[in-house]
Amino acid sequence: MPSLWLGMREAYSVLARFYDLCMEADYDQWVSYLLDLCRDHHHVPGSIVDLGCGTGNLTIPLAEQGYRLTGVDRSWAMIAEAKRKASVLGLEIPFYVADLREVRLSGVTFDTAISACDVLNYLPTEEDLAQAFATVFQLLASGGMWLFDLNPEWRLREVYGDQSYADLQEDFAFFWDNSFDATAGVCTMDLTFFVQVPDGSYKRITERHRQRVWLPEQMERLCADHGFRLLGAYDFLTSDPLSPEGERWQFVAQKQVASGK
Ligand SMILES: C[S@@+](CC[C@H](N)C(=O)[O-])C[C@H]1O[C@@H](n2cnc3c(N)ncnc32)[C@H](O)[C@@H]1O
Repeated sequence: MPSLWLGMREAYSVLARFYDLCMEADYDQWVSYLLDLCRDHHHVPGSIVDLGCGTGNLTIPLAEQGYRLTGVDRSWAMIAEAKRKASVLGLEIPFYVADLREVRLSGVTFDTAISACDVLNYLPTEEDLAQAFATVFQLLASGGMWLFDLNPEWRLREVYGDQSYADLQEDFAFFWDNSFDATAGVCTMDLTFFVQVPDGSYKRITERHRQRVWLPEQMERLCADHGFRLLGAYDFLTSDPLSPEGERWQFVAQKQVASGK
C-alpha cells in the first residue's frame, strides 16, 4: 500500500474530519444531563458559551432547544466542522477559534459556560488551569454557572495508559499509540491516520494529543481561588458524588455573586 508520510500535526487538525464517526457518546443524553444539572441547581441556562466546543455536538442541540449559544475552540479544524454542521441546519451560532485560557468576547457575558469531554485535561499546567478559571470568571455573569468535566486519573492510567488501539473504517483507518508518564501524570496519544486519497493511495498523518491528570481537590482549590463556589462533583450522568473509579467526573461551579450588587 503506497503511503505518504506527512509528519506530526496539532491535536484535532486531522481527527476533526473523523471525530463524529469515532465518538460513541450519546449527545442527547449528555445535553439532558447538563440541563438537569442546571435545573437541580436552580439555574436558568439562558446564554451558553461552549468552551472547547469541538464539532458542536453539544453546542448545536442546545441551540436547537432555543438557548443562545456561542462556541469556542482552539482547533480551527474542529470549528470548521462545527460551522459546517450548524449551517446545514440553518443555525446561526457564533463560533470562534480561540483558546479558553485567554478568550475575550468584548462586552458579552454568559449565564452558563460548559467545557465537556476532557477539555480541561488538555491544559498542561496548573498555571494554565488558573488562567482558564480566571477567563471563565470574566466570561460569566454574576451567579453564572460553569459545567466542566474531567477524564479521571484511572482512565488515563489504565484505559488509555500504555495501550494501542486501531479503528478501521471504509475509507480511513487510525491507530492510537499511547504512553502514560505516571510521574508527570500525562498521557501522550499519537494518532496515526491513513486517509485514502482519490488516486487510491493513502496519506499517513500523525497528530499528538496530551491529556493531563487533574484531581477533584485541585478543582476545589481552583474554584475557591478564582471566585467560584463548587456546587457539586458527580459521577457522570448521575447525581451521585464522584467516585475515584467513575467513568467521568462532572463538576458544577458557580461564579460568586459580587458583594454589594
Ligand atoms: C474531546 S474534544 C470535546 C469536544 C466537544 N466538547 C464534545 O463534547 O464533543 C476536546 C476539545 O477541546 C478543545 N480544546 C483543548 N484545549 C483547548 C483550549 N485550551 N482552548 C479551547 N479549546 C481547547 C480541543 O480542540 C477539542 O475540540
